[in-house]
Amino acid sequence: MTTLSTDVSAEGQSPYKGASGEAIRHHYDLGNEFYYLWLDRSRTYSCALWEGEDDDLYSAQQRKLAYMATGARATGAKRVLDIGCGWGSMLRHLVEVQDVEHVVGLTLSPAQLESMKEWTDERYDVRVQNWLDHEETRYDAIISLGAFEHFARHGMSREERIEAYRTFFGRCRDWLAPGGRLALQTNVAGRARAVDRQTVKEMLFVIERIFPESVMPPISDIIEASERTFDVVTVRNDPDHYVRTCRFWAETLTSRREEAEAVVGAQTVADYLHYLESSARQFERRNLGLARIIFERV
Ligand SMILES: C[S@@+](CC[C@H](N)C(=O)[O-])C[C@H]1O[C@@H](n2cnc3c(N)ncnc32)[C@H](O)[C@@H]1O
Repeated sequence: MTTLSTDVSAEGQSPYKGASGEAIRHHYDLGNEFYYLWLDRSRTYSCALWEGEDDDLYSAQQRKLAYMATGARATGAKRVLDIGCGWGSMLRHLVEVQDVEHVVGLTLSPAQLESMKEWTDERYDVRVQNWLDHEETRYDAIISLGAFEHFARHGMSREERIEAYRTFFGRCRDWLAPGGRLALQTNVAGRARAVDRQTVKEMLFVIERIFPESVMPPISDIIEASERTFDVVTVRNDPDHYVRTCRFWAETLTSRREEAEAVVGAQTVADYLHYLESSARQFERRNLGLARIIFERV
């Protein structure tokens, strides 16, 4: 890996910068060993793309990475940006499978950056940097999986959320040439059913204890915020894929409970099991959706 940068200096300024470094570290810097116990071996921490009953999580994650990368037309590209790169599974996929010449990954988690330190290949450039502070000029394709939920927070009005998202789409537009693509995967608020008591309790738990300073956007926010900067090419809503992913993670964490407790303590493991199981329920009830959207720059 070539670049180490810790540019998180302008938190709290206008325009809205999304979840603070502190809020992100609260979740993602619990300890890499903890996440490695229950994520698949590619360490992908976002919804998989399942096929068939006998599928396994690793294959389903690789399928998702390929779906989003090819949707963004990243294959053989010179430069691709991954906004919210996690532990780097998309970056590796881009270099090793899609033959991309240079990948840039942004995260707000120093622990995630640390996990990629031994990637000495010059094609990787991973930074602890908010996308709002990212000043590179041009990319052939942009991908963002499971990070958009952090770009606005619970309690913001619809107008405030859309303004924050519009800033994001505006940046992505500036980084792409006309016709360049952005592949975005994010949880969205399901609006199909009335919200019951259990849902409110479970969602509050997730907002307060697991993902502070974040929010699940209604898909209409995303579409409205991208108007005049991007065309929508395709949209998929795959809530059942997240039911299966969350249940798989919860089962794995349960099976490795003692090891996990030794790393983060019993309360955190109990909280994570509750979060994963209640998230699965909310996707199943369609209170949450899982959007995979391919955009093309206008
Ligand atoms: C749920 S993880 C997803 C990781 C990865 N995309 C994957 O699918 O495995 C969300 C990621 O978004 C990053 N993130 C959140 N807000 C960000 C921001 N404003 N700028 C850069 N990265 C951000 C977090 O640090 C984390 O790496």
